[in-house]
Amino acid sequence: MTTDPRKALKDHLADWKSWGVDAVPRASEPASAATTDFAPAAPVPAPTAVATPNASAPSGAASCTDLESLRALVATCTACTLCKTRTQTVFCSGNPSPILFVGEAPGADEDAKGEVFVGRAGKLLTELLKGVGISRDRIYIANVLKCRPPDNRPPEPAEVAACAPFLKRQIELINPKVICALGKHAAFSLIGWEGSMKALRGSWRLLDNRWVTATYHPSYLLRSPGDTETVKTDLRGLLEKAASLGARLP
Ligand code: URA
Repeated sequence: MTTDPRKALKDHLADWKSWGVDAVPRASEPASAATTDFAPAAPVPAPTAVATPNASAPSGAASCTDLESLRALVATCTACTLCKTRTQTVFCSGNPSPILFVGEAPGADEDAKGEVFVGRAGKLLTELLKGVGISRDRIYIANVLKCRPPDNRPPEPAEVAACAPFLKRQIELINPKVICALGKHAAFSLIGWEGSMKALRGSWRLLDNRWVTATYHPSYLLRSPGDTETVKTDLRGLLEKAASLGARLP
């Protein structure tokens, strides 16, 4: 039996959800007739850290009118099994910007901190960006998945599909001029690219009137540092494209 009360509560709520219970009364709501014959139960504080399970959260993404309401909706999502193993959802890093980077999924560090690209790959990404003159607070970084896959395994197609409405709405609300997919999972999610990164990198595709390019994922560079200059070249190309479209960084 688990000893973590938050996890126990989360599992409990997930069980209720699977039995068809969509809502639980607040502690302040009147007790049922069956319990009013007895001394009123001590009020149970409403859980703050555990969101109400919401398997249909992705379908509500399109109705979110700002990033904060989208972030709050993502935090409630139980649309795929990753909700059972995540510590928390991971929404974004940086600020709305004409330049958006899209990574794959949170890893252990991101899952613990609730922010994208804060582990080893994230530190390398920060260095790469610095190397071409961009600080992280001037761009926006999101991921294909908002929850960490266990043991950092690659995203499953069903997880990508479940999370897709969140990324789509995130892109619409940020409204970037250029998007850079980091790695093959992001390239597949954004533009359906299934070929090699070598063939795709440095080229541009249109997605809903926005230009999308791709480069190697920083985790790949940690294993293959020989491609570091290639990525810097791609990042410079991204900046040139953004400038040619009149994009001004915040
Ligand atoms: N890798 C990613 O793709 N995203 C993160 O947030 C961290 C590592």
